[in-house]
Amino acid sequence: MGNEVTMDKLVSLCKRRGFVYQSSEIYGGLSSAWDYGPLGVELKKNIQKIWWREMTQLHDNIVGIDAAILMHPRVWEASGHVENFSDPLVDCKKCKNRFREDHIPEKNRDDKICPECGGELTEPRQFNLMFSTHMGPVADDGSIVYLRPETAQGIFVNFKNVVQSSRVKIPFGIAQVGKAFRNEITTKNFIFRTCEFEQMEMQFFIHPSEDDKWFDYWREQRWNYYVNKLGVDPARIQWHQHGPGELAHYAKDAYDIEYQFPFGWSELEGVHNRTDFDLSRHSEYCGKEINYLDEDSKERYIPYVIETSAGLTRSVLMILSDAYDEEDLGTDGKEDIRTVLRFHPNLAPITVGVFPLVKKDGLAELAKKIEEDLREDFTTFYDQSGAIGRRYRRQDEIGTPFCITIDYDTKEDGTVTLRYRDSMEQVRVKVEDLATVIRKGIKEYKRV
Ligand code: GAP
Repeated sequence: MGNEVTMDKLVSLCKRRGFVYQSSEIYGGLSSAWDYGPLGVELKKNIQKIWWREMTQLHDNIVGIDAAILMHPRVWEASGHVENFSDPLVDCKKCKNRFREDHIPEKNRDDKICPECGGELTEPRQFNLMFSTHMGPVADDGSIVYLRPETAQGIFVNFKNVVQSSRVKIPFGIAQVGKAFRNEITTKNFIFRTCEFEQMEMQFFIHPSEDDKWFDYWREQRWNYYVNKLGVDPARIQWHQHGPGELAHYAKDAYDIEYQFPFGWSELEGVHNRTDFDLSRHSEYCGKEINYLDEDSKERYIPYVIETSAGLTRSVLMILSDAYDEEDLGTDGKEDIRTVLRFHPNLAPITVGVFPLVKKDGLAELAKKIEEDLREDFTTFYDQSGAIGRRYRRQDEIGTPFCITIDYDTKEDGTVTLRYRDSMEQVRVKVEDLATVIRKGIKEYKRV
């Protein structure tokens, strides 16, 4: 690894190269809201695609759904969010800054002293994180609806529908990816904690006697996903078990997978034992028991749930932090920094960059044709402007794992230069072998 990755470097690269922009920037920006640019949207979709395949298609007992963001307001009473989903807030009487009490140092909390200016802090008050709006033409108490603060409830309220309409049998899971909204007060650190974000959640329904077994199973699965499927450096992830004061209102036990972000170790995903809390509460609130009949044993019961809950937008930041590297290629005491995003090839927004060495003598046409043929199998990018070294560096900076250069020899012997991003090794490959060689490179990819 080269120089340290910092948030400033990441934010600057993201804007410069089109991964993430500040929302509504031409109006001065909306704090804590971000837009994904051409490369960012590809990266986000690639993470989502790998998660979806891992959590649904690779399991014969997990199905997907896509529920609405707006749900009946009673859902959030039943789930406990109306009553419990709040943060303790304190205000500084002097500088007027507002803080989450649990985010300021313990000494400041005890002494009621502002960490910014030393002024006096108010008593904490509970602030509910749900955004509310109104449905219909009249904005009164009867028309209130919430923007969902977690995707999970869309799964719980559809439990019966899924059991009845697809032939799933316990143990089975329901997975979903979608937007969630929380009126977060502390929204620093770029896309780490935002008011609008995306979650990738899976609720696994089990017999209550098997909760410990499945909890351990899903913890192991989720750890392996980060290391083996996303290629994350295992030294940069760790488990954190929630203490009694940290547990969410629905959880019996919970572990976070934390990642070592540039600003410190922070939560990436939670694995929770939600017991029968949600299905029992919905049974109570909707007046119909939501249970499951085991057709073999004839036992009827309310299932327990093991939940895996990952942030998609937070995963984008994690992957960017994990991939960011700088190396000094300078000689004779001169500095020459190469910035490179060492994405796993399955995550890279562009897989193959294709360049003609020069535009003239038919090389551009030849390169364009090769690029078009590769589009069938890979996400490609054609670039004919600037010195070849600069074109390579531009692709390194956005994490393109393979680059191909078409030169005069290509016309003679049908070979091109294939350059590997991480090692910068260059080999000659026959045009007709390119797709096979690149596919092999993706399959056998190992992070240096
Ligand atoms: N259904 C359970 C649940 O929502 P959570 O720990 O509150 O649990 C799960 O959230 C994941 O969602 C977190 O680990 C994080 O990755 C992501 N997440 C939560 N709040 C977020 C926010 N304000 N901005 C971005 N991601 C967030």
